[in-house]
Amino acid sequence: MSKRYQIAVIGGDGTGPEVIREATKVLVQSASQFNFHIDLCPLNYDGQRYIDTGITLEASELDALKSYDAILLGAIGHPDIKPGILERGILLKLRFGLDQYINLRPVKLYENVYTPIKNKSHHDIDYVVVRENTGGLYTGVGGSSLTGTQDEVAVQSMVYSYKQVERCVRFAFDQVIKRHGSTPWKGLSEAERSEGYVGKLTLCGKTNVLTHVFGLWERVVSDLAPSYPTVKTDYVHVDAMCIYMIECPERFDVIVTENMFGDIITDLAAVTQGGMGVAASGNINPDGVSMFEPIGGTAPAFTGKNAINPMAAIGAVHMMLDHLGQPEAALAIETAKINVILKMKSMAAAEMGFSTTEIGDMVVDELRKL
Ligand code: IPM
Ligand code: MG
Repeated sequence: MSKRYQIAVIGGDGTGPEVIREATKVLVQSASQFNFHIDLCPLNYDGQRYIDTGITLEASELDALKSYDAILLGAIGHPDIKPGILERGILLKLRFGLDQYINLRPVKLYENVYTPIKNKSHHDIDYVVVRENTGGLYTGVGGSSLTGTQDEVAVQSMVYSYKQVERCVRFAFDQVIKRHGSTPWKGLSEAERSEGYVGKLTLCGKTNVLTHVFGLWERVVSDLAPSYPTVKTDYVHVDAMCIYMIECPERFDVIVTENMFGDIITDLAAVTQGGMGVAASGNINPDGVSMFEPIGGTAPAFTGKNAINPMAAIGAVHMMLDHLGQPEAALAIETAKINVILKMKSMAAAEMGFSTTEIGDMVVDELRKL
């Protein structure tokens, strides 16, 4: 019996539905080629529904999502709605409510994609960021008092438990093994290879200032390291990370970091890999329902123009299939994507040399040839 997957599809706002339309085309094609079934269930959890009904996401709706195999999300955000309402009420509610404690963000520069970094090519940028996704500053722990006066005080706390950090760091160590279980990472020196290392895990933190939180993260890394003797461990402060990601991105294999730092460095990383048109991410609960999304946002200026780049959403599909245990289909989509990228003029919206729907069709055609 071939496998059947129930996929909840939240197109969302702005260009979200447009890129998701192309991504689902590719998904449906890959299912027919690789002998599995996909049931798509479109859900209108978006800004328009909030405007019409005042509902962001009900507890019962969140609960119902737990019965799906995965969620594919376009983008959330609406120009007529105050920032924060949809982000907290839908996106973060999904991530937290489904305990998607990992945000996995591959940073890979494909051939023929422009990077603003001088003298770096697709040989140099290929790493993943494992961003902790349900803790830290995003928990909303804090408050303010004497609001509106000169004495106003506001606090927002970076909260982490050992368990929370441990499950995230463990996932990151496992990523190193997953990436290089068979062939060692090319960034290792001869000496490191002969010592038996296969890859590297870099903790990104701020141990010189945020001593409590990053003391904890460092301790977790050193507690887990003996269970992963083939993974070389490394540490970089978040500010220095921003330098190295530009000056020598080739020094990274897997980076693990807390939620807010991960949010910030992955936008920088996305620019180095060709921008928001290509960067995809997975919000992962290894024991529950995971959600895959392009990280580009709603791009209101391009909404409805058939001009937005769907490659990031197609990348989200490829990550989703890999996660669902269809690695061959995932790899085929990546290959098809790479072949189409070679023909594109740019990754930027309206400058691709093709329309959104044309790109989707081209990926489907390339996939058919494989
Ligand atoms: C992201 C976004 C979100 C985040 C926003 C929209 C809440 O920036 O997915 O990186 O901060 O996580
Ligand atoms: Mg972000």
